[in-house]
Amino acid sequence: MRKRRLVILSNRLPFTVRERAGDLRFTASVGGLATGLSAFLRSLETADSMVSDYLWVGWPGSTVSDGMKARVRREAAERFKSSPIFLSSEEMDLFYHGFCNETLWPLFHYFPSITTYRESHWKQYQEVNKVFAERVAEILKPDDIVWVHDYQLMLVPRLLRHYAPQNPIGFFLHIPFPSFEIFRLIPQEWRREILTGLMGADLVGFHTYEYTQNFLRCVLRILGTGHTMGSIILHDRLVKAETFPMGIDVAHFSEAAKSPEVQREREAIRKSLKADKVILSVDRLDYTKGILNRLEAYEFLLENFKELRRKVVLVMIVVPSRVAVKQYERMKKQIEETVGRINGKFGSVRWTPIIYQYKALPFHPLVAFYTVSDVALVTPLRDGMNLVAKEYIASRNDETGVLILSEMAGAAKELGEAVIINPNYREEVAGAMRTALEMPPEEQKRRNRIMRDRIRRYDVVRWAQDFVSQVLSVRDVQKSFYSKLLTEQMKEEMAERYRRSRSRGIYLDYDGTLSPFTLHPEDAAPSENVLGVLKNLAKDPKNNVTIISGRKREVLGQWFRSMPIRLVAEHGVWVREPQDDWKMTKPINNSWKGAIMPIFELYADRLPGSFVEEKEFSVVWHYRAADPEHSESLAAELMDTLMGFTANIDAQVMRGNKIIEVRPLGITKGTIGEELIQRANDEFVLFIGDDWTDEDLFKVLPSTAYSVKVGMARTHARYMVQGVQDVLALLAFLSTERGGKNARRVRAGRLPGKGSVMRKKME
Ligand code: UDP
Ligand code: G6P
Repeated sequence: MRKRRLVILSNRLPFTVRERAGDLRFTASVGGLATGLSAFLRSLETADSMVSDYLWVGWPGSTVSDGMKARVRREAAERFKSSPIFLSSEEMDLFYHGFCNETLWPLFHYFPSITTYRESHWKQYQEVNKVFAERVAEILKPDDIVWVHDYQLMLVPRLLRHYAPQNPIGFFLHIPFPSFEIFRLIPQEWRREILTGLMGADLVGFHTYEYTQNFLRCVLRILGTGHTMGSIILHDRLVKAETFPMGIDVAHFSEAAKSPEVQREREAIRKSLKADKVILSVDRLDYTKGILNRLEAYEFLLENFKELRRKVVLVMIVVPSRVAVKQYERMKKQIEETVGRINGKFGSVRWTPIIYQYKALPFHPLVAFYTVSDVALVTPLRDGMNLVAKEYIASRNDETGVLILSEMAGAAKELGEAVIINPNYREEVAGAMRTALEMPPEEQKRRNRIMRDRIRRYDVVRWAQDFVSQVLSVRDVQKSFYSKLLTEQMKEEMAERYRRSRSRGIYLDYDGTLSPFTLHPEDAAPSENVLGVLKNLAKDPKNNVTIISGRKREVLGQWFRSMPIRLVAEHGVWVREPQDDWKMTKPINNSWKGAIMPIFELYADRLPGSFVEEKEFSVVWHYRAADPEHSESLAAELMDTLMGFTANIDAQVMRGNKIIEVRPLGITKGTIGEELIQRANDEFVLFIGDDWTDEDLFKVLPSTAYSVKVGMARTHARYMVQGVQDVLALLAFLSTERGGKNARRVRAGRLPGKGSVMRKKME
């Protein structure tokens, strides 16, 4: 197995540094991202992995004074294999408190009413993402795998791809990806940049299937780019969106639960709590965690089930988080007031209903709380995953304990045996607490056994390895695409063959090959540049140039009126030789059109922005300008209808680039192209096309012919170029004398190729 270094980027590093009285204090960071990834990286010391080493790039958790930066840098490298990115307090204010935690965090967790949209925050977000990308570009080695994490760095993949096109880049989102209706609340320009930023990665990972689908839907609706089973094909690359539910280090929690430290802590806690039953809740102080709802449900429980008073205690561990954001500050006050009120209302000298603790716990005391608690109450209003739920289950070695889990947490998708609740309804949460407190141990064990098995199988190591290996496999698929990409050397070889040939047949598709697609087909008339390139090709008496298109003959005839080239219209129904009239290639029956037209018209009426084009021998439904999502589903439906309809008539249905066309059976670019090529018997044959109608001709070309596909996709063509500009450049290169001569000279060593120019400069 080839081992590679993993470069991790996240806003928060695994440690948080604080300057106190001229000294530095390093503590472990809390939050699922930091704890989860740290667990994976710990495993690298023992597990057999494709990752040999790692470097973690991120922000050290506070603003560090200039005098201390060198020391933080040194300690970060030595103790944490990290490279800190220092940000000023102003940068943190606009970027971290601002765009990250006042725009993205609330919106992605479905809190649009407290989401703010400020230009200065967005600008700083762009800036800081650039700083991260640039820093990584400086330290990146060619073989490194890059793994970018979370919502704070969504622009980094694309920025980094610019600097490091050869490195595999993965991105993982640790929070929910919201539905389109929520995501679209972000201003247009920003949301497009966020999506294209993410798509700079080879692989974009999410915790749940639903988040992945939401992302793909936003890509389709906002960027107009569809996908096939999560693979999005861009003009030059492939990006995959996949689901990877993050796991935890189950063994670490399970082992710790048996350790003497935890046993000691556990005894001490049991004694101090003085209650029969313990309910535990652990979270960062965050409005997404449903802490207030939980308190209200607990109050309702004590109010309505008096027999539970003095028997049960709620231990509430709340970890300080993002204290500078006002929503968090306000929430802290509300929580503390509510805790005070409930304790005042029900408590006595001998019993405090809620033990509230506002601080982070180190690992062993946290596990001790997990093992001591009969019930874990996890009630977020929204949560990307929620690792606390999994940690509780992993720490219960005797398989007892009841997990109450919100259906709004990503973890609920895997932990279906928990008592699942809707956190918005206090009666339901209180009912779940009662069920949990009364659940017989056998039932507790039955449920936990299933959940423990599941989280053991897909633990954090599997999660990370699965992700990294998928990044690499996307790269492999891309490589198979790239292997066809037309290189300079192939171009020169082609030019050489071109130059030596006494007769040449050059066959060109039009839309998507010579001219980019436009919203309305009539807007795609040939540019001056295209006409110039074609004129140049056509003036060489050795060249026979053919445009082979699905367009109507009137349109082609008008666009290339005076051009001495052959035109093929309607996929081969009509041919016009230079300086001649249009002729039909064979007699065709189009009596079916009358029956097909109303079906097409019905769909055009149903889908605003779509329209029907009637040609002499075919009918086309165009939907490029229509709503992308609605059109995908209607297109699938129409295809289905037409397939049935055309089964017994002389017509066939084909789905092209944002069109559906019904045309005569047996008329394809393959049949007409093959016939023309055989008849001409040229020494040099080249066909360039982009759509799958062009595949019909790619398939039947003679083995000596050059075939070039425009755009990334599986193809029968020998070569691939990325876009229309590359096609025009290739044709210009072939048709200019210089292209041919240069090619010859480079190989003869008389002119410097690209490499030798560089070498000369370096000398
Ligand atoms: N955690 C911790 N100390 C605490 C409380 C929590 O180390 O006092 C850890 C906990 O073990 C878990 C993480 O913080 O791994 C919280 O992750 P989770 O996914 O539950 O929520 P997030 O904070 O990421 O929203
Ligand atoms: C969540 C986010 C992480 C973040 C953590 C703690 O888990 O997904 O990206 O690090 O909360 O939040 P903080 O703002 O303190 O980094």
